[in-house]
Amino acid sequence: MIPGLPTVLTLFSFVAFVFGVQYFHHPAGLPTLEFDFIVVGGGNAGGVVASRLGEVEDYKILVIEAGPSDQDVFSVQVPALAADIWFGSSVDWNFTTPPQTNTNDRVLEYPRAKILGGCSSHNDMIYNRGSRDDYNRWASTTGDDNLAWDQIRPFILKTEKWSSPNDPSFSEQGHFNTSIHSSAGVLGVTAPYYNHPLNDLLLKATAELSDEYPFLQDLNDGRPIGLGWGQATITHGFRTSSSTAYLANSGDNVHVLLNTLVTRVTSIDETGSNDFREVILASTPEGSTMKLIAKKEVILSAGVIQTPQLLLLSGIGPVDELKALGIEVFVDNPSVGKNFSDHITIPIKFSTDLPTSSFDETAALAQWKSNHTGRLALSQHLPQIGWVRFPQDSPPFKNGAVDPTAGPDSPHVEVFFVGVSEGSEENSTLSMNIVNLTPACRGSITLATSSPFNQPIIDPALLDSPLDTAILLEGFRSAQRLLASNTLSEHILGLDTPASSSSGTITDDDVI
Ligand SMILES: *[C@@H]1O[C@H](CO)[C@@H](O)[C@H](O)[C@H]1NC(C)=O
Ligand SMILES: *[C@@H]1O[C@H](CO)[C@@H](O)[C@H](O)[C@H]1NC(C)=O
Ligand SMILES: *[C@@H]1O[C@H](CO)[C@@H](O)[C@H](O)[C@H]1NC(C)=O
Ligand SMILES: *[C@@H]1O[C@H](CO)[C@@H](O)[C@H](O)[C@H]1NC(C)=O
Ligand SMILES: *[C@@H]1O[C@H](CO)[C@@H](O)[C@H](O)[C@H]1NC(C)=O
Repeated sequence: MIPGLPTVLTLFSFVAFVFGVQYFHHPAGLPTLEFDFIVVGGGNAGGVVASRLGEVEDYKILVIEAGPSDQDVFSVQVPALAADIWFGSSVDWNFTTPPQTNTNDRVLEYPRAKILGGCSSHNDMIYNRGSRDDYNRWASTTGDDNLAWDQIRPFILKTEKWSSPNDPSFSEQGHFNTSIHSSAGVLGVTAPYYNHPLNDLLLKATAELSDEYPFLQDLNDGRPIGLGWGQATITHGFRTSSSTAYLANSGDNVHVLLNTLVTRVTSIDETGSNDFREVILASTPEGSTMKLIAKKEVILSAGVIQTPQLLLLSGIGPVDELKALGIEVFVDNPSVGKNFSDHITIPIKFSTDLPTSSFDETAALAQWKSNHTGRLALSQHLPQIGWVRFPQDSPPFKNGAVDPTAGPDSPHVEVFFVGVSEGSEENSTLSMNIVNLTPACRGSITLATSSPFNQPIIDPALLDSPLDTAILLEGFRSAQRLLASNTLSEHILGLDTPASSSSGTITDDDVI
């Protein structure tokens, strides 16, 4: 009767398939107010969870993201431009900490991404699985053996899509162990390499210091101890993230609502039982709000800061804290926002005769635009990383302090080589960072006000444990030992930072 109809129907289903995941810039554009699952926060976890749920075609899924799409921000795509989108950029929350009493009351910047893909859209892309002990400790702490290293490894391989460099000048040869990687997954991973004289010097130093800095073939083999090449979530010159790897490849049953803040999660049950399947949205403090309903579940994946913030705003948390802010309490849970922990890093700088690792950014940008190769197609840092485990009789543990790591396959500190920059005069400056990987201090996330538009109080209580300070100091001494090796000492002319406050010798106070 209508000869054209079957063709039109075929075309529609084809179009839907081609477009896949659907993006919305305003809640008013949504096709419905009810979804099976509502995922709050389109970051690292949210992107993966939504995309995996979306594999069940019958489920309708909505992801709500406070920031814009990563596809709309150029610097997100270009690996070495990560610094442009960090703290103080249009896609960062610009959070700061309260003064940290153990660091001379310094107020620290606390970068958190406000963009689809979350921090995987604006971090430095280091691909680091962690040590097998970490997974095994999670398994024993939670009593869930599925989290153990041997159980989780097949899933790690399922996520990973190893991708060799698109540029013949960035060899990956010898930089990783092929037998522990997979190209069957979705998240692009590569072993980026660029030439700098420090690379070969560090490799030579691993032979000299084979106890403290043995050569590490692959940081992702479950025992990251030693010094070797970094790996990064980059594919053919582009950053990969939970958005590019997961959301972007989802079907049209996955909906992504951008630029919208979830201000509260509420119960759909008016009779008083807690059935938190309703979310309240707002785009601005003044603007209108809107309610959406999840038929099955609301999944909070707003990150380590904003997930507890949202629970607290929703009346789920320590009763006294909530009452003090006039928030109605639905679930009294003293643990929400507590036991918050983060790594602390100290920067150190040495004067050196090595050439700088800087490059002509205009030319590099032109090259990236032409074929996605060149210096911007890699992480901004020098390509190697050191992971050091201190012996149990080393200074941090002399007074009987308990080793905070998860076990003998876990390093205490990470040492990374930020770069070599122009120095003050004829010499250049090697910048390194020491990271305490297992801090013992515990801080908190609390609400400053009852407004979802105010940042919560993010207090990592840095260095609240003397052990954390002792580990950082030992990390600093360890980096000094590395640079004092015969191989490197020829090129290291002196320590710039920390500077000595007294006559020549560096004291523990100078470091911290
Ligand atoms: C963070 O600061 C930048 C620069 O001032 C600004 O453009 C951006 O909007 C700020 N982010 C937020 C969430 O306010
Ligand atoms: C690579 O990994 C395999 C499997 O774990 C291991 O047997 C082999 O020794 C590793 N090779 C190197 C060079 O570390
Ligand atoms: C913090 O963690 C410790 C150790 O797991 C636990 O004993 C304590 O109850 C936690 N504190 C809160 C407020 O949940
Ligand atoms: C990419 O383009 C640059 C010039 O911008 C060229 O020198 C280089 O050989 C090209 N690389 C590849 C892998 O095509
Ligand atoms: C550069 O290194 C030389 C040789 O160690 C040293 O004498 C000089 O003071 C250094 N200059 C600066 C600015 O650090």
